[in-house]
Amino acid sequence: MPKIILKQGFKPRVCKPIVTVGPPPPGIPMVKSMTNKEIEELSNTNCWFNFPEFYQQIAQRLDINTIVEVGVWKGHSISYLAGLLRNRPGIKIYAVDLFEKARWLKYQREVDVLSLLYNYNLNKTQTRHLITDIIDYSDKAALKFEDASIDFVFLDADHEYESVKKDINAWYPKVRSGGIIAGHDRHFPGVKKAVQEFFTSFEIFNPGNRKHSAVWYFNKSNVM
Ligand SMILES: C[S@@+](CC[C@H](N)C(=O)[O-])C[C@H]1O[C@@H](n2cnc3c(N)ncnc32)[C@H](O)[C@@H]1O
Repeated sequence: MPKIILKQGFKPRVCKPIVTVGPPPPGIPMVKSMTNKEIEELSNTNCWFNFPEFYQQIAQRLDINTIVEVGVWKGHSISYLAGLLRNRPGIKIYAVDLFEKARWLKYQREVDVLSLLYNYNLNKTQTRHLITDIIDYSDKAALKFEDASIDFVFLDADHEYESVKKDINAWYPKVRSGGIIAGHDRHFPGVKKAVQEFFTSFEIFNPGNRKHSAVWYFNKSNVM
């Protein structure tokens, strides 16, 4: 990774609507029990995307063309990255998520209409056409890719130890030498343990020195 130099006065975009509030873009169906206003509001709640600087660094790497984000939720992070890369020829961006098949009691109201909220945000940012969805469990989705075929994979699905371990084991072989495997929320005990167990060394990206939500990453050209 290149050295991180934050632009003066740069403010990361966190949980803010990307365009002004308005009617849903064409093609977004109304859910019977939800008004357009509710969809708009719900599309921006519980947004955990707080690593735009990391994705800016990724977007600067011209050798990164095949990308997978595992755990996309309402599309806040993947649409941001896709937006940065929209003019790069040959770019392939895959979104892996269970969408409505996820079980997440705390957020079940959102999970029940997750693909609607996700598509809403992708349409709003005009990134829908740039992203291919894979609706499956993370480890099963990994089987759809050849070994060493991915330039960058970002793991942000289930943060429990067993799941993160499974995700790293499933996706690591899919990343080419020189590519990057990374993930969010390094402070979660399960994430921390699984990452530390798998990688003898890795990097932390946390420009604001936040207590929470740092990104961990590993450049596969490093010797393990
Ligand atoms: C923390 S959210 C992702 C946040 C997103 N990257 C962002 O920053 O906006 C986690 C997502 O992972 C999905 N998920 C959880 N377990 C999964 C699994 N085993 N396979 C695929 N997706 C999973 C959930 O449905 C949820 O949408």
